[in-house]
Amino acid sequence: MTRLSAATPSGHAHLGNYLGAIRRWAREGTDEDLYFVSDMHGMTTSYNPQRLRSLSREMLATLIGSSISPDRVFVQSDITAQLASLTWILECTCTFGEVARMIQFKEKSAGAKTVRLGLLTYPVLMAADILLPGADEVPVGEDQMQHVELARTLARRFNTTYGEAFVVPKAVTPKVAARIRDLANPDRKMAKSTRDEAGVVFLLDDPDMIRRKFQRAVTDGLDQVEYRPDEQPGVANLLEILGACTDQSPRVAAESITTYRELKETVADAVVEELREVRKRTQDLLADPAELDRIRATGAERARQRGEHRLEAVTRLAGIG
Ligand code: TYM
Repeated sequence: MTRLSAATPSGHAHLGNYLGAIRRWAREGTDEDLYFVSDMHGMTTSYNPQRLRSLSREMLATLIGSSISPDRVFVQSDITAQLASLTWILECTCTFGEVARMIQFKEKSAGAKTVRLGLLTYPVLMAADILLPGADEVPVGEDQMQHVELARTLARRFNTTYGEAFVVPKAVTPKVAARIRDLANPDRKMAKSTRDEAGVVFLLDDPDMIRRKFQRAVTDGLDQVEYRPDEQPGVANLLEILGACTDQSPRVAAESITTYRELKETVADAVVEELREVRKRTQDLLADPAELDRIRATGAERARQRGEHRLEAVTRLAGIG
């Protein structure tokens, strides 16, 4: 069984990425798994090339710092040729309507003066990421479910139209922490691209900064520590984070806490503890560029080999090449 997933270096990795996805990749992985830095996905809106390169490096170090084996990681653009070929074939398997109704596309394109074509077709590149190495499971947070669903559709369609070539993948989301919210605005999810960073806990934030962000987390005026996501989204979010860090359900986590102040302090302590080693290992790796380059080069070769056969078969079945 192969699991595959990725994180886009469009900003620094945050607690939502970690609890909803990265931490599970490290914990539940098998030797066949592949986790990568999806740097090509970081080009769908206006970006700075130097920053993208440096964030890609940071994300690669973060994956390994989060205890994912260095033998399982790679950087997406190191296999651009394979992915671009497969993306074209899949674009010709996909309809305009299917990509235009993606929630993330609608959200990110709403109100924009110009929209890059890549923003529209990005879920097809993501389908290529998943289908090329034949992933069975794709562990992601809730916001990526629709994209994985598209990859399933395209795999099935290609298989029935041109011949069996793809494994039909399945999205898997965590029970807790599938959608961590912004601490300062619990109505929206915690996101890398949020301009106001007060509610976004980055994995490389120092402990003081983490504590400050939790202290200022928005709650409500009800003064009840209970897990009720609809009525108390801010409090429920803190309980989810606490539950995820202490391996218990948010409801159980709520039982031993009485005040909001105590809740915030307890969550902050748990997060600081959870991230202590991640931060240290990531920083150590960033300070060792030669080691990071070595890991990247080996990962690129491994990823290329994994995709070779399937790309050949798909190209043949599609009547080209
Ligand atoms: P990205 O970089 O936005 O997010 C990486 C992972 O973190 C999850 N996530 C969250 N989980 C819980 N709460 C949140 N607030 C939160 N924010 C993000 C995401 O669901 C994701 O699992 N397109 C993808 C990367 C990608 C990919 C792929 C994933 C590219 N190719 C192939 C799987 C398979 C993305 O931008 O994720």
